[in-house]
Amino acid sequence: MLLHLSTWQEIEAFLQTSRTVVIPIGSNEQHGPTGLLGTDFLCPEIIAHEAQKRADLLVAPTFNIGMAQHHLGFPGSISLRPTTFIAALTDWTRSLVGHGFERLYFLNGHGGNVATIEAAFSEIYSAASFDRRSAGFALKLRNWWDLPGVMPLANRLFPTGHGAHATPSEIAVTQWAYPDAIKSANYAPQIAPNGPIREAADFRARFPDGRMGSDPGQATPEKGFQLVDQAAGELIREVEAFGNEERPG
Ligand code: NI
Repeated sequence: MLLHLSTWQEIEAFLQTSRTVVIPIGSNEQHGPTGLLGTDFLCPEIIAHEAQKRADLLVAPTFNIGMAQHHLGFPGSISLRPTTFIAALTDWTRSLVGHGFERLYFLNGHGGNVATIEAAFSEIYSAASFDRRSAGFALKLRNWWDLPGVMPLANRLFPTGHGAHATPSEIAVTQWAYPDAIKSANYAPQIAPNGPIREAADFRARFPDGRMGSDPGQATPEKGFQLVDQAAGELIREVEAFGNEERPG
């Protein structure tokens, strides 16, 4: 069930049966010469949307802009500063919790978001802690590639040149969902260099075509489906377990 294609009455009825919601979260940023700018929000969205076709899950609109300051040297990248990202996450959470949601599962598609999302969780929980009361809700962050079995599958599909950014895994997932948007390019070198992540000018100088350690030329829609299939199945199991977690006290 997709929240944005539902009515408020349908959400009110859903809340009678479940207090859990899945929020795909990612980033809009360059992904090398063949990766779509939306790759990091499309991957968790594709996986969550597939999962809700297979099980009774509610999926919120995708939070599609994240912490991508280091990609701003490449046209089309859009970033929030960590402070505005935390403020926006706080408002999304308070909106959903206000309706009665008690388990908010964020399925993330961008490694650069992790530190800020965790800081946001601390900020959100702090409001309850300083008031010496129970928050009454729980927040969970999961990167889609950390769902059980996904990285082992990626390592089998792409034993070399997986890399850290514009990976063949994430490109394959978007190829499966958007076959009309598949791009091609000659990669030089075939496997991109690795290195640290700092600010945008440094990133562009180190990684001229935007890739980090990857050879996305290995991506195919069929490999993308294998990854989506594995991730969607594990997402369903995790979200159900999260929703059924025992409440303390
Ligand atoms: Ni990515």
